[in-house]
Amino acid sequence: MSIDAKDCKEILQTVYQSNYGIADLFVKSPGRINLIGEHTDYNLGFVLPAAIDKAIYIAIGKRSDNEIHLTAADLNESFSISMNELVKSPLDWPNYIMGIVDQLLKGGHELTGFNAVITGDVPLGAGLSSSAAVECATVFALNELFGLGLSKLEMVKLCQRAENHFVGLQCGIMDMFASMFGKADSVIQLDCRSLDFHYSPFNQKGIKIVLLDTCVKHSLASTEYNVRRKECEEGVSFLNSKYPNVASLRDVSLEMLGELKNAVNENVYHRCKFIVEEIKRLQEACLNLEQNDLIAFGKKMYETHDGLSKLYQVSCEELDFLAEFAKGNPHVLGARMMGGGFGGCTINLVEESAVESFISEAAGAFQNEFNTNLKSYIVSIGNGTSVISID
Ligand code: GLA
Repeated sequence: MSIDAKDCKEILQTVYQSNYGIADLFVKSPGRINLIGEHTDYNLGFVLPAAIDKAIYIAIGKRSDNEIHLTAADLNESFSISMNELVKSPLDWPNYIMGIVDQLLKGGHELTGFNAVITGDVPLGAGLSSSAAVECATVFALNELFGLGLSKLEMVKLCQRAENHFVGLQCGIMDMFASMFGKADSVIQLDCRSLDFHYSPFNQKGIKIVLLDTCVKHSLASTEYNVRRKECEEGVSFLNSKYPNVASLRDVSLEMLGELKNAVNENVYHRCKFIVEEIKRLQEACLNLEQNDLIAFGKKMYETHDGLSKLYQVSCEELDFLAEFAKGNPHVLGARMMGGGFGGCTINLVEESAVESFISEAAGAFQNEFNTNLKSYIVSIGNGTSVISID
């Protein structure tokens, strides 16, 4: 049985009350999808994410001392620590909250201790950025609770620093941006260099966004993600020595790529090739979207998958299988692996009338191939982080 938003609110209230008394505030922050533009954020390209109708919820209240007392209601785990001695925990989930506190303290903000309970219906480890949602919910709640006066963009940047420095994943800005700035029925066209963005309506009649979850737990923090980032930097550093204006892969043309080919090792070349192509592909895909040409848009999703699998090498056999399976179904406009990779979900744009049959056929084929149950989520695009009322 899966929990939904209503259950989440009830759980929050009950658990907070029995552990800590009356909460001061309740905040909700969603998970995210990304339609196209993968691994382009830290290469200062573009991304096209959206917040979804699955979220992390936090109840929070001030303490008079300097301690942080936390409970993860779904995991039935509690954690407490003094704000003056923040250290990484093997429990994992408290690190996203401590990382935020650490950054706020480093920024000179004045806080006292607090109690918090978190819960949510974002599937964990599925590549839907439950971690960014925890960070955004935490910073948003603390900003309100202590009147810190941070803007949404400042909070997003702070979440990224928390993840980079405390958690240790050198992630880009996409996940927290989408969670914080999400808008119902809209995708966010975000320029990760200038951080300019605009919303594009994505409310395609007759089309559903279906996520197929391999349940292969991706461990992004485990080196590979950071290795990809370093490989991209290596390509940039070579090109920068010849073209001083090249500060990121965003500045690299297809012609320049040619020069890279014989100068760096094959992996570095392939990583850079994928990113340069993906940045271009996303820009074309945005035009397709403006023209309402979802067929052309969907084709680009398949191309992205191909590049992520063969050039960037962040896919896995389960994701490749699902992308290939979708390609064989005329009612699926586009499909690809989504997020950091090595597991998690594929994102599929599916004709509404064929959603049920697609999901059950995919589940059957997946079971035959891997002897594993496939999970699926039909998601809609929702709003970003906000204070909620609990009634
Ligand atoms: C993870 C990271 C993001 C982004 C994606 C890949 O979700 O947190 O910053 O790099 O992978 O696009």
